[in-house]
Amino acid sequence: MDLTSKYLGLSLRNPIIAASSPLTRSIDALKRCEDAGAGAVVLKSIFEEQIEAQTDRDRAASEDFLSHSDAAEYFEAVSRDYYINQYLELVRKAKSSLSIPVIASINCASLSSWTGYISSFSEAGADAIELNYYPIAADADTEGRTVDKRLIDFALAARKATDTPIAIKIGYKYSSLANIMRSLDKAGVDGIVIFNRFFRPDIDIDTMSLSKASNPLSDSGEYAESLRWTALMSAELGCDICASTGIHDAQTVIKLLLAGAAACQVCSAAVKDINIFGKMADGLSSWMEEKGFSSIAGFRGRLAQERIADGALWERTQYVKGLMEV
Ligand SMILES: Cc1cc2nc3c(=O)[nH]c(=O)nc-3n(C[C@H](O)[C@H](O)[C@H](O)COP(=O)(O)O)c2cc1C
Repeated sequence: MDLTSKYLGLSLRNPIIAASSPLTRSIDALKRCEDAGAGAVVLKSIFEEQIEAQTDRDRAASEDFLSHSDAAEYFEAVSRDYYINQYLELVRKAKSSLSIPVIASINCASLSSWTGYISSFSEAGADAIELNYYPIAADADTEGRTVDKRLIDFALAARKATDTPIAIKIGYKYSSLANIMRSLDKAGVDGIVIFNRFFRPDIDIDTMSLSKASNPLSDSGEYAESLRWTALMSAELGCDICASTGIHDAQTVIKLLLAGAAACQVCSAAVKDINIFGKMADGLSSWMEEKGFSSIAGFRGRLAQERIADGALWERTQYVKGLMEV
């Protein structure tokens, strides 16, 4: 079966991508994903906030001999460049070691000077760039429209900064997700990854303190919102949708492709079993053979809302008679 797929204009041997995570943080780990059958890899993100914090620490440690503000500013820029260069080296090495597409990932905390760095990731050879920008809307003085505008402005600035394909990875807590997705599409992004699964703090009741270990891995039922929103938006948008969260088996990959996803990203299931990439590709291939499809184009998007008579079901949130069987 022909599993080749297009995502962000890139040719993938199959639509199953290793998501940004510890699975993609080193060359050895990346090669394991490739050998296990992944169609592409998204590198572990470079985190703007971590680099800024490290830069601040470096600066504080050098304050004795950096009394002049120009020197301090210069040192800060050099320090930031040092950490960014380490990541650029990972991009370069990944490109020379792998034959599948390599997508760099930036986790931005602000608009600041970071859009300036986006072009260096393409120059280092990244086939595409995935951007994360999700400051939690915890300030009650900030209206939803302001939060939305920041994301759209961020996408516009990123688009201006590079011709390399860009994807934006988002969460689903927006008051009008359809509007956000259409605005991102209009801002010129090549793809939207739905959805990120964020770190969620918890409480340790023994020590009565905050706990960082809050179940980082997803369960297999968690794909439902990605499936719904892929089906609702895939036929409407010009850009690609890449599904993420809760994709643990070939059946879920098939469902997301039927809903219109261009590709699927996998993290938790591959943390548990790195061979899941190949198993998913084999399962997809067997299903296509059984159903008589020789390529993914033959069925992708068949169950998108706009393409089916009972598409209203994708908008259904309440259980009514007939949807009550448990
Ligand atoms: C330990 C861990 C680290 C992660 N680090 C990143 C990251 O650096 N950047 C990113 O965009 N997503 C990161 N993610 C999120 C994953 O890429 C993915 O979106 C999420 O785990 C949902 O997919 P899954 O259900 O297949 O795990 C991380 C996830 C885990 C579990």
